[in-house]
Order: sequence, then structure tokens, then C-alpha cells
Amino acid sequence: MSSPKDKTVSLRTERVKRAGGKTPPVSRSGFPATRLRRNRRADWSRRLVRETTLTTDDLIWPIFLIEGEAKRSAIAAMPGVERLSIDLAVKAAEEATSLGLPAIALFPNTNPALRDDAASEALNPGNLVCRAVRAIKSAAPDIGIICDVALDPYTSHGHDGLLVDGEIDNDLTVEVLIAQALVQAEAGCDILAPSDMMDGRIGAIRAALEENGFANTQLLAYAAKYASASYGPFRDAVGSSSMLRGDKRTYQMDPANGAEALREVALDIAEGADMVMVKPGLAYLDIVWRVKEAFGVPTLVYQTSGEYSMIGAAAMSGWIDRERVMLESLIACKRAGADAIFTYFALEAAKLLKAKA
Ligand code: PBG
Repeated sequence: MSSPKDKTVSLRTERVKRAGGKTPPVSRSGFPATRLRRNRRADWSRRLVRETTLTTDDLIWPIFLIEGEAKRSAIAAMPGVERLSIDLAVKAAEEATSLGLPAIALFPNTNPALRDDAASEALNPGNLVCRAVRAIKSAAPDIGIICDVALDPYTSHGHDGLLVDGEIDNDLTVEVLIAQALVQAEAGCDILAPSDMMDGRIGAIRAALEENGFANTQLLAYAAKYASASYGPFRDAVGSSSMLRGDKRTYQMDPANGAEALREVALDIAEGADMVMVKPGLAYLDIVWRVKEAFGVPTLVYQTSGEYSMIGAAAMSGWIDRERVMLESLIACKRAGADAIFTYFALEAAKLLKAKA
């Protein structure tokens, strides 16, 4: 029996024979002139030809807030993530700054007694998120602060907008979002991120910011936000899941649609968005790619709570390697064209990247 090696040799002999004794020309366009494994042999070489890099500059850390002092509370569906009282959020922001993270995103868990049908607590300049913005701005002024513009932490029904006769009323909601945006801008928020998916809210908020002396406040539009099943743990974290009646499919996008995302993004850019977001992450990287290709604007991606929890749970069961899957999921977002990633892994990834550097 001949070994595979003998077989290669005899095939070559055959070709030499057929070419009349002359060595046949080596193909320059394919194998073996091209052997893609050559560049992969050594670590130094893999680093040399690497197309995409992940740095702490790419990561935004979402932080959940609760009332109180020196208080932290675990989120059952997100092992490793805690809600923090403002004083601890300040410490977290300082740590994030020292690790080089460019920005944090704040999400309040509003006291249920303060939630009502009009989302009035959203307009209170002394609400939890506004107090946190002020405290963090004075203690850690070098990190960017992002605030959600949406009513779900404040409504008694858990929706991002106001309900009128059982429907989310678009234009009425936009009026409240404008007021919420101004309250947060006044508190010192750097980037306002409307995540509500109402029509026309970017233009309306942008105009209000210009008129009220906040021309430099940035707008990050959750432009292509899908009605995904992966927001469940987040809704637990902010305390809206037990309140939510129905679902969000009349305003968040149908996961089956791609072209529609481009229309959403085009509108938000035209209305004055400085950056756009695609959400969720991993299952929607085709959308990230299309958006980045079509518009070339700063494009962010949100690795959602459900994505975090899926990786965390599988790792806790010992089925996957937490660090490797985490880094792989983040680099995949970068490769798809994301300029930055909202991720609950931000702090952990930043520490890991620092240790590797
Ligand atoms: C609220 C909001 C949600 C998220 C960010 N802002 C939840 C939702 O739309 O129901 C999801 C974040 C996550 O799952 O990590 N407008």
C-alpha cells in the first residue's frame, strides 16, 4: 500500500511525464504557490496580518442604577452584573476611566412607586439617572456619559412610549421624549441615545437641543432596533419586565427585515444623528455591515443582555470558554464594521486587554 506522500510523488511524476520530461509550470494563482496557512504558522505572523483589532476604545459599559448608598443588587438573569447605587456607580466610572474605556451608559431602575402612565419621573431633573450623571461628571469628568431616551423605566406599563387607547401614541410620546432629553442634557449627559423607536424623534430632539443651548450634545440614534427576545434580562435589571403588557412589535423592528434598517438609518442621519446603533449584536451583524457600507457613519452595536447571559450561562456550565467566546463575539462586531460596542463585558474585556498588552 502506498502512503499519501508516495501518491503525491507519483502524481507529480505523471505530470512531468505528460509535459514531455520538462518540469510543469507551477500555478501562480492557486495551490501550491498560494498556501494560506503560511501566514498562520506563528503567533507573530498572525498578529502581523491581523485585519481587525479590539481595544478598550471600542467598548461602552452599560451600568444599572438603584437608589441608596453603598448598595449593590444582583441581577438574577445576568450573573456578574449588578445594579449600583450612585456612589458605587461613581467608583465604577472612575475604574472605567482608569482602564481607558471611553464611555459608560446609564440605565436607572426606577422605584415602582414613581412609575405612572405619563412617565412623569422621566422629566424630574432630580431623578435617579440625572443625579448619577451629575455625580459622575464631577468625580470622573473624562469619561463620556450616555443616557437612554425612552420611557420604559418610568411607565407603569413598561412600554417605551405613552399608551392611548391601547396603542403607543407616536407624536405624544415624542413630545415627552424631547422634555426627557432636555432634562438629561441639562444634567450634563454627553450623548443622548433615543432607544424608543418612535418616528421623527431624532429631528425633534435635535431641534430642541439646538434651541435650548445644547448644540454640542451628541445624539446616538438606536436606528435599527429590533423587537428581539434577547432584552429579557435587561428588563429584569431595570424592573420593567414584570410591568410590561404585551410586546414592543409596533415600534421595534421585525427581525425578518434588512432593507428597512437602511431606511431607518437614512432618516436618523438626515434628522441629525451623530452616530447610529444596530441592536442586538451577534445575530444582526449583516445589518451592521450593510449600514456601515451604505452610510460610512459612526456605527455602534449593542451586545444585549440576552447575548451576555447566553455566553455567561454556557460558560458557567463549563460548556464554553467565557473569555474566548467573549472576545470572539466582540471582534466579530468589529469585523462586521462596528466602531464601538455596548457590552456588559466592557470592564472584564478592558482588564483582559490591558493584561495582554
Ligand atoms: C429600553 C432599552 C432596552 C434596551 C436598551 N434600552 C430594552 C427594550 O427595548 O425593551 C436593551 C438592552 C439589553 O437587552 O441589553 N428602551
